[in-house]
Amino acid sequence: MGIHNDVEEILFTEEQLAQIVRRIGRQINEDYKDKNLLMVSVLKGSLIFMADLMREIHIPCAIDFLSVSSYGKGTVSSGEVRIMKDLDQSLEGKDILVIEDILDSGRTLTYLLKTLAARNPSSIRLCTLLDKPERRQVEVHPDYVGAQVEDKFIVGYGLDYAEQYRNLPYIGVLKPEIYENA
Ligand code: IMP
Ligand code: MG
Repeated sequence: MGIHNDVEEILFTEEQLAQIVRRIGRQINEDYKDKNLLMVSVLKGSLIFMADLMREIHIPCAIDFLSVSSYGKGTVSSGEVRIMKDLDQSLEGKDILVIEDILDSGRTLTYLLKTLAARNPSSIRLCTLLDKPERRQVEVHPDYVGAQVEDKFIVGYGLDYAEQYRNLPYIGVLKPEIYENA
């Protein structure tokens, strides 16, 4: 029914995603128990991952959001990155954990990590739900990775195609005709 009809193949079911999120949550609880954790969600793709992950965190934690310019409608990075919505707070003395949906070329994250590191946090690390290592153009090493994926454009669980499909509760690949008709 509806958007589910556009999906060709499911790569991660809701149950698999929940398991991944629980595993990462456990690691973060352990690694940050004596720290001053600030989870920074990169909008909009990490919205659902963030919401699920933060509920697996049982140590003191604050959250904030930022958004960077995206690819627009395309499926390939333009390489241009701009902060569209910035954080509300100072990063001084905080242990920043940047929460991303997917690490692709690495351009967005390289820029973001550099920008945030310049604000004097105590530490800064990267947590990404998905990693597409084959696509990397600049070196970025995520500290927490949910799963590696091959070089396919995927949607759901926050990830969009032309701002659609973020609401799919699982992650999948769209039927080719969806992209062809765009
Ligand atoms: P990067 O700068 O190329 O690493 O871009 C990362 C961003 O591109 C992610 O935060 C996503 O918003 C978007 N992106 C990359 N691959 C996909 C995909 O397969 N589906 C949906 N969005 C993607
Ligand atoms: Mg994104």
